[in-house]
Amino acid sequence: MKIVIGCDHAAPEYREMIKEELLAAGHEVVDLGVEKGEKADYPDIAEKGARLVASGACERGILICGTGIGMSIAANKIPGVRAACLSDPTSARLCRAHNDANVLCFGQRIVGSETAKELVAVFLSTPFEGGRHAGRVMKINALDGEKHGA
Ligand code: RB5
Repeated sequence: MKIVIGCDHAAPEYREMIKEELLAAGHEVVDLGVEKGEKADYPDIAEKGARLVASGACERGILICGTGIGMSIAANKIPGVRAACLSDPTSARLCRAHNDANVLCFGQRIVGSETAKELVAVFLSTPFEGGRHAGRVMKINALDGEKHGA
């Protein structure tokens, strides 16, 4: 899978750790940074990552900040993006199975490193169930038009 990953200054260690996991698992990684010691505003990184997912250039996105909250709020502004901010593996499974989430957000200040790796593994390996969930996701997607007053 081609996956974009990015973080702000609150999460370079996790970005690096998850990037290594992804590469070891054979994924292609687009790394938006930032490196330790660099400052970055999370909306800037979230926008870049979300646009790569929305355009189809990347299949999934992983955006990490202090809490994951800022990244998810910003990423969800981009039409076509369904970003989930979470901290437990059950939610990681269900955001894929029920919501067809395409961007995973979490916080380096919130989740432990083993949990972070598990969130990513579950997020990437769980398929969307479709069925009764498909119409609901279509309703989410229909809300995208409102973002620009369409
Ligand atoms: C940066 O200090 C912090 O506010 C940011 O990483 C994030 O937690 C925002 O949601």
